[in-house]
Amino acid sequence: MGVRKAIIPAAGLGTRVLPASKAIPKEMLPLVDKPAIQYIVEEAVHAGIEDILIITNRNKTVMEDHFDCSPELEQQLAATGKLDKLEIVNNVSNLADITYMRQKETLGLGHAVLCARPFAGNEPFAVLYGDDVIVRKSPAIGQLCKAYDAYHMGIAGIKQVPEQNINKYSSLAVEPMHDRLFKITDMVEKPQTPDEVLSLYSILGRCVLPPEIFDILEKTPFGADGELQLTDAMRTLTRTKGMVGVDYEGVRYDMGSKLGIMKAAVEAALVHDEIGAEFRIYVKQLAETL
Ligand code: UTP
Repeated sequence: MGVRKAIIPAAGLGTRVLPASKAIPKEMLPLVDKPAIQYIVEEAVHAGIEDILIITNRNKTVMEDHFDCSPELEQQLAATGKLDKLEIVNNVSNLADITYMRQKETLGLGHAVLCARPFAGNEPFAVLYGDDVIVRKSPAIGQLCKAYDAYHMGIAGIKQVPEQNINKYSSLAVEPMHDRLFKITDMVEKPQTPDEVLSLYSILGRCVLPPEIFDILEKTPFGADGELQLTDAMRTLTRTKGMVGVDYEGVRYDMGSKLGIMKAAVEAALVHDEIGAEFRIYVKQLAETL
């Protein structure tokens, strides 16, 4: 069976981008005029996945509002003839079939995925981390789904990270297969010493998982940071059934970090239909003063 469902965990506390994330979910921070979470939903839709579950919490209802209809705004735009803006608003609410589930306690990414068990049922599913925007014409998650169709194994989106940062990510033992595909043989979450580092390849932002992951998650003890780590469950999956890594094409922006937010905003502004040309001139002028 192909991948028809996607889970977007977006219930984290976003402590790295406080105070911005105190009342506004970091997933709602905009790249110019579009919130991060919309880019992620659009990526899933472009990959042919329209059944989407967003994991939220009690402070994040604004995400539901964003993808809902807004009758007053729509009426006003129609009445004043602002049909282009009306189209933008309607497109957002018609994007996909989105449902929501609350993670009652922030117990980690693995726990957030486990909450989605009733939604996924007995099917493989895509996971798109709610704060990782990946920009690429061919959607990154589509590249992973293609690998799933070929191998019917858990698929991780992987990229190399700078050596000084590997202690903040997972580290993977990998063997090249062909093209951008790797066999993953082991993994460790947030390696603390150099001998724990298996390689600079890390799981970044996307994966496709088989339903067996839920039984594994149920039995996985809480790990780094006192959270149920998805990586710990994926390590068990790797050791029992194997996993494949896809070094996906696309640039990933970490909307959970201050620098990531700024890079994403600048890049999005440079290619924006309305303001791109003017912004480019501004950036060039600014660069001359630096
Ligand atoms: P992060 O570890 O980046 O999110 O999780 P965080 O906990 O919000 O980050 P900081 O360290 O406090 O800044 C990756 C993704 O998993 C979601 C987050 O919303 C993010 O999209 N997540 C994390 C959950 O849905 N639930 C959790 O319990 C933890």
